[in-house]
Amino acid sequence: MSESSRAASEPFSVTLRAARPEDITSLERDVVAISPLAAYTGFALTEEELHRHTFGDPDVTVQDFIVAEAQRRVVGFVVGVHRHWKAGRETTAFIKLLMIHPSCHETSVGAQLLAAAETAVRPTVTKLEFGSCSPTYLLPGVPEQDSATATILRQAGWKASSERLSLFLDIGDYAAARKVKPKHEPATCDFALKIAPAGRHADVTGFIDHHFSVSWARETLPALEPGRDGFCAIAVCRESDDILGFAAVGASNPGWFGPMGIHPQRRGEGIGRQLFDYSARIAGQRGMRTMVLSWVNDKASFYSGIAPRCRLQTFRKWVKIL
Ligand SMILES: CC(C)(COP(=O)(O)OP(=O)(O)OC[C@H]1O[C@@H](n2cnc3c(N)ncnc32)[C@H](O)[C@@H]1OP(=O)(O)O)[C@@H](O)C(=O)NCCC(=O)NCCS
Repeated sequence: MSESSRAASEPFSVTLRAARPEDITSLERDVVAISPLAAYTGFALTEEELHRHTFGDPDVTVQDFIVAEAQRRVVGFVVGVHRHWKAGRETTAFIKLLMIHPSCHETSVGAQLLAAAETAVRPTVTKLEFGSCSPTYLLPGVPEQDSATATILRQAGWKASSERLSLFLDIGDYAAARKVKPKHEPATCDFALKIAPAGRHADVTGFIDHHFSVSWARETLPALEPGRDGFCAIAVCRESDDILGFAAVGASNPGWFGPMGIHPQRRGEGIGRQLFDYSARIAGQRGMRTMVLSWVNDKASFYSGIAPRCRLQTFRKWVKIL
């Protein structure tokens, strides 16, 4: 009898326990690597990245990261997170990721993990959301194709809500079809584009914090860190050197584009298009092949106007009112 048919027909005995750093290797190898997750995130969740999103996420506590063990093998895990510092959102907590080995599909393992994570975060919150735990998140919601997770959530009293859209850009394809309108050529503009130098990192986060949000400022930080693959492109006024806009690449995750924002008084002048184009070209020069424009929602038309051949991935927001 195959492992999967045995699992479907017999009760599945699992033990839930707090994750330990040494679990990361087997979770990556036995659960993440054989899942379709990379198709939804655009990158492989390596051990290093899995660690960054769990033990390395300052808002994930020991109670929030739970593994399921069967016959001394880890067969699944759940990661919850509560962003205490986020003004206005402190009553919402998130299930960052729920994953189980294929042999445990249609068993109660997923439901047990979910219930354990809900209990871990429940004392302080009134609402739960799946994914979307910015600034450090992996999924903006449940991928539309992931009916297994949707079933577990539905049976646990969660409700499906609005759509969330991400765009996947093939950088080579974009470069081949690239069109920058003459009116948007940088030489004719009063702004210049560059990668934010170390000396201006504080100005960049100050600009984001002031014009956008503290959450976006935190989300952008990893793109400014030396030693990581990301970068933050900025548009600056040629005359005053003031920052007019920013675009982060590789901030939340490898290959992810965003956040991006233009000074409120300088929108509609082509700066956003130029920053996007500049960022895509630098990313291509650095060997990136795909850029993921995650959770773009109402800005999807802005991006697809600039890069018309993006692949669209739909996610669904799921919530549970406690
Ligand atoms: C979205 C944003 C980055 C666009 O930057 P911008 O400098 O104003 O955009 P541009 O002037 O380069 O516009 C480029 C093209 O996109 C179009 N466009 C601009 N904003 C748009 C929007 N919100 N929706 C659809 N199309 C848009 C423009 O009409 C222009 O088209 P054209 O070249 O055919 O004339 C800017 O409005 C912004 O900072 N918004 C708030 C932050 C935000 O939402 N960031 C994106 C998060 S996913």
